[in-house]
Amino acid sequence: MKICFATNNTKKVEEGAAALKGLIEIVSLRDIGCNEELPETGDTLDDNAFEKARYVFEHYGVNCFADDTGLEVAALNGAPGVYSGRFAGEPRSDARNLSLLLEKMKGQTDRSARFRTVIALILDGKEYQFDGIAEGKITQSSSGEGGFGYDPIFQPQGHDRTFAMLSLEEKNEISHRGKAVKALLNFLRAGKF
Ligand code: IMP
Repeated sequence: MKICFATNNTKKVEEGAAALKGLIEIVSLRDIGCNEELPETGDTLDDNAFEKARYVFEHYGVNCFADDTGLEVAALNGAPGVYSGRFAGEPRSDARNLSLLLEKMKGQTDRSARFRTVIALILDGKEYQFDGIAEGKITQSSSGEGGFGYDPIFQPQGHDRTFAMLSLEEKNEISHRGKAVKALLNFLRAGKF
């Protein structure tokens, strides 16, 4: 089975391909000839994930899934949430987003946060949704070279290293996207669609 992962983020494609290895061949947007930015105008993770997946299904006619992820920080009332990618404004920059978050967290004692991923899957026009959450906290400073986005400042619960200090496999095992992808995998394995 071949499914397009509707994202321009090559790191996400790598994570998805590793998690789904053996069952599904993941193809990228570039593989299907889609080189444009996908629309992402919703106010919720669900809306954005489905907006991206529907765009690809309608314009390219291929089975696909898209994810939308947000980092929800308790002390910031759930911000940046659905705006995580644009937290420090346009053009999007992981480095500026991360610095702004650390700045806003200065002096905060409650550093708890969670990543939430919504995956929207479209198979032959039918729509399905899978969710994943990773609880953790925002560290005082950046550490680790792996991963992407806010990974260097997010320490998952029960671990003493940030996501950026874990291997791809270790992150996938416990991450928001890893869990949502696992739910997608179980659904596809069961074959009830
Ligand atoms: P989106 O899902 O690509 O819209 O991501 C929204 C924001 O969250 C972007 O700034 C991403 O870099 C960040 N992000 C998404 N997934 C992860 C992750 O697994 N770790 C760290 N940051 C992430």
